[in-house]
Amino acid sequence: METSFEAETRAVFDRYQRQQENDDHIFERLVSLIEEEYFGLPTGSFHGLDVLDAGCGSNANASYAFLRKGARSVVSLDLSNDWMDCARKRLSRFGPRSALVTGSVLDLPFDDENFDFVHCAGVLPHTRDPKKGFEELARVTRPGGSFFLTIMGTANGVIYRCINHLRELYKTDDQFRTAIDNLNAYTAREAIDWLLKTKASEEKEYIAGENEFFRSLFDDDLFVTIRDRFQAPTYHEFSFTEVQIRGWYAECGFENIRRISRYTRDFHNLRRFLAPMYRHYDHPLARFWFGDGCIQMIGDKPGN
Ligand SMILES: C[S@@+](CC[C@H](N)C(=O)[O-])C[C@H]1O[C@@H](n2cnc3c(N)ncnc32)[C@H](O)[C@@H]1O
Repeated sequence: METSFEAETRAVFDRYQRQQENDDHIFERLVSLIEEEYFGLPTGSFHGLDVLDAGCGSNANASYAFLRKGARSVVSLDLSNDWMDCARKRLSRFGPRSALVTGSVLDLPFDDENFDFVHCAGVLPHTRDPKKGFEELARVTRPGGSFFLTIMGTANGVIYRCINHLRELYKTDDQFRTAIDNLNAYTAREAIDWLLKTKASEEKEYIAGENEFFRSLFDDDLFVTIRDRFQAPTYHEFSFTEVQIRGWYAECGFENIRRISRYTRDFHNLRRFLAPMYRHYDHPLARFWFGDGCIQMIGDKPGN
């Protein structure tokens, strides 16, 4: 039974995820995150696998990537079924290899040991019991298979301290909430035009190309992310640590547990200057800004 919290979570994400589906650059950028190299696997490793994309989102970008990489079947699962029309726009070309399922990671509607590869990105903090969700995902992983998880780490870096603070402000301050809710390419362009025009009228110095460069830092892809950080309901603040998640894998009997560098490609905006810190999460600069950062881990379930 879906709770009102879950229904709200779904509704908020549905808006972003439809926008991402509608923009080929953003959709392809998300799809490009599924690369064997990223998971430390040889090319072709997804070929012939049965994959679960748990909490796939309305555009099911990772499901699409696994199918394009030759998975035998991909089950895309999310709450309710209001997202399926959106997911089908890209997935229907794969025919019966793609299945869309309504369900919760807290109570997966599958037998034990059902999938060779379980993928769950950015979902668990939105559930009321992340550990239970983890155990469910571990349960449906086949012996010899792998389970990949993305979970936002603890807010011990500057950026997430700010985000947690601003998330509180978003709940209580009408002016801030309205500004975030209205943030999009159009409103941002108006603000940037005003800034650059005013700057030009008040300053004489101009560096060749600076206005174009400044504009290039902001695009819809960035604004979707910013709105997501403030608007998306979470049961849990960003409070997970790498050590804790490693412990969960170990408790569930996984081996070869490894954190992988966040793989980022094709940002056309400000985030391309942050991407080196996503990839080198252990560098002191990355630790300063992001703390434990966005934790991406994978573990293998021992074979029979
Ligand atoms: C940050 S989005 C991530 C979507 C997708 N995995 C991606 O990486 O683009 C979080 C998703 O988790 C889903 N979700 C939240 N609680 C869930 C639950 N209990 N079971 C399954 N999905 C859930 C939301 O509906 C939303 O689509």
